[in-house]
This record gives sequence, structure tokens and C-alpha cells, in this order.
Amino acid sequence: MIIAVDGPTASGKGTIAKALAAHYGLPHLDTGLLYRAVGYQVRANGGDANNPDDALAATLFPETLLENPELRSESMGGLASRVSAHPAVREALFDRQRAFATQAGGAVLDGRDIGTVIAPEADVKLFVTASVDARAQRRFNEMQGRGENVTLETIAEDLRRRDERDSTRAAAPLIPAPDAFLIDTSSLGRDEAIAAAIAAIAEIT
Ligand code: C5P
Repeated sequence: MIIAVDGPTASGKGTIAKALAAHYGLPHLDTGLLYRAVGYQVRANGGDANNPDDALAATLFPETLLENPELRSESMGGLASRVSAHPAVREALFDRQRAFATQAGGAVLDGRDIGTVIAPEADVKLFVTASVDARAQRRFNEMQGRGENVTLETIAEDLRRRDERDSTRAAAPLIPAPDAFLIDTSSLGRDEAIAAAIAAIAEIT
């Protein structure tokens, strides 16, 4: 079984994907991490994330980079969003994601274009959304918990900018696959969101 979980940042898609992987005993790939690694590597190379050649060169990041907790930071999310707009970068990361999706026994992948580009044949396609306010509030709580000094307004502004860039880019924009099941987590707690996903899958499969 291939499960594709797409959606914007802080929608809860990562949490849902991880829980589904545990529930069904499937391996899980957070594809955002790959783009974050490219963003990190561009910076390490002294390159420019908006430059397609610099971004493409950064797809040759060392494998150990994926373990670096710094990839999870907000600034890395912003860099990832820039490098991910280059079609050559998406192409360079395609085979790796495709191989993961099609491994024997199935897999769960979360990202932006799993149901539309990476695995359009997925058995289950979930599109997880939430209002900007709900997502900003979650991110805010997370970052405050880590002791980071941020305001709710800055986070909401950053989310809007990132949504806009991810949804309007020419290469693999963030849009639900026509056959995706929509889950709005705005008013759902963590466990409720996971339960909604499992219920949806029971219905689909
Ligand atoms: O999901 P996450 O916030 O880690 O993704 C970081 C950025 O990487 C996103 O804003 C998006 O621009 C890009 N991305 C993508 N395609 C994916 C996963 C992430 O373009 N499959």
C-alpha cells in the first residue's frame, strides 16, 4: 500500500504520516527534509537558493545531513521553499522518492506533490490542510516550547508567503490531487487528526 500525504506547512501532515506509518507498519519518508537538506547545502556552499545552478549542485548533499536537527528550523523551511521551485532540483530528487514509494511492501510519503507527481498511482491520497491561524498558532507553540523568540504575526506572515510560493510555482505546485481525500485539522487535536486519517483510509481501501 502506498500512502501519499500532501499539504502545506504545519498542517499536521508530518504527524499524520508518521502515525500512519506506525499504524500500518510501513516505512515513512518526510520528503520536505530532502528539500531542506538542499537548502542547507546551498548555504554551506556559499551559493544562492534562487540560482538554479547553485540549487542543483546542492542536491549532492552528504547523506548524514538528513540527521541534522538544524534542518527543522524556520529559516531552513524558507530556503527549502526557494530551492524546491527549480524544476531541475525536483527532477534530481525524483528517483530517490520514487524508489522509496515503490519499494516492496509499500510506504508512506509526505510532502507537496506525492499524490500528483511522485506516486500518482498511490492507493491512498490524503490532502491535509488547516487555516493559517491554526497553523501559525501550532508553529508558535512549538517554537516557544524550544525557547525561540517569535511573534504569532511573523509566523502567520511567513506561512502565507510560503503557501503563496508553493501554490503558485510552475513546477509541481501545491494542489490536491483530484482524487485526494481532504482532512482539515484546524479544529482537530493530534489524536483526532490521526483517527480521521485512519477512518478515511478504511473507507477508501
Ligand atoms: O514540509 P516542509 O515544510 O518540510 O517542506 C519545506 C519546503 O520544501 C516546502 O515549503 C516546499 O516548498 C518544499 N517541498 C516541496 N515538495 C515536497 C516537500 C517539500 O516542494 N514534496
